[in-house]
Amino acid sequence: MTTEKTLDAIETPDATGRDEMTKEERRPVDAGPVADYAFFEGKIVPFDQARVHILTHTFNYGTGVFEGIRGYWSDEQKNLFVVRLREHVERLVTNCRILMLEPGYTVSEIADTCLELVRKNGFRQDVYVRPIVYCSALRVGPGMNEEQALAVYNIPMGHYHDPSHAIDVMVSSWRRTDDNAIPARGKINGAYVNSSLAITEAKRAGFDDAIFLNQNGNVSEGSVMNLYIRRGDALITPPVTANILEGITRADVMTLARDELGIDVVERSIDRTELYHADEVFFCGTGAKVLGVGSVDRRKIGEGGVGPVTQKLQGIYDAIVHGKNRKYADWLTPVYGS
Ligand SMILES: Cc1ncc(COP(=O)(O)O)c(C=O)c1O
Repeated sequence: MTTEKTLDAIETPDATGRDEMTKEERRPVDAGPVADYAFFEGKIVPFDQARVHILTHTFNYGTGVFEGIRGYWSDEQKNLFVVRLREHVERLVTNCRILMLEPGYTVSEIADTCLELVRKNGFRQDVYVRPIVYCSALRVGPGMNEEQALAVYNIPMGHYHDPSHAIDVMVSSWRRTDDNAIPARGKINGAYVNSSLAITEAKRAGFDDAIFLNQNGNVSEGSVMNLYIRRGDALITPPVTANILEGITRADVMTLARDELGIDVVERSIDRTELYHADEVFFCGTGAKVLGVGSVDRRKIGEGGVGPVTQKLQGIYDAIVHGKNRKYADWLTPVYGS
């Protein structure tokens, strides 16, 4: 590894509680390579050599699909556990269909490439794994052709937001992109302008993050995370038709709520004002894990901290991803042997 420093991928308050990251922290690639190797143009190359040409189609038009996968280092087991690797890669390959992209590799080959790269980089800390299937044609004009490629990189990754604190969020003035415009379920590179607008607006207004409403005015999801609310005994989450990314963590939280806490999750439309009435609001996602929301639009949720059900789910999820719960061992792929 070139550096042992843990960098958050996206401009965000860090685990030390500082609101501002330094310029160096905010621009990890400018600060020097954060991994030794990347997978690019069919092979593992030095990280610095994984560079795209200015004419690359995806660079110009956002015409790619990607995944965000996490691996957690266990000091006790001296192993790195990649969470839901196969499910993420399957989603990547399925999403290629939306853009009519041909990844050029099978699910198993992509998953193996992700693992091989992490191993080659020798990470012994929490990591983020990003495979991207992108249009590699060097050409002007948004129409896509058959020139497509797979790239994978890893970076060290700490907390997206410190999960021990509830975050303060706003309902974004930006609506979630519609399925018939740019499908949120596709995890399409260019679609993340929608998230960028929402996060940037929220941070500049003094919030930690944002909640999207969809085109119908119902709650959709967070900027890069799915959303749950608790009203009394019920856990509720927007349905997959609410212009959400069909989150892998969302599905896992559903399983854990049912099997570990005895709570069946209801999937239904959520009104904006139900957020204000909720006893708990929390986000979930690969990056964010399980994250409590303390206020929405300056209205306190519950006691304003991480709610009791959120805390339980955080504890259960954290134990699983760190390899401490054998019952869910099949969620994890060990990087260094079994
Ligand atoms: C827009 C959006 N919603 C939800 C999620 C959470 O999805 P997952 O749990 O599959 O990481 C993500 C994270 O990738 C996201 O980008």
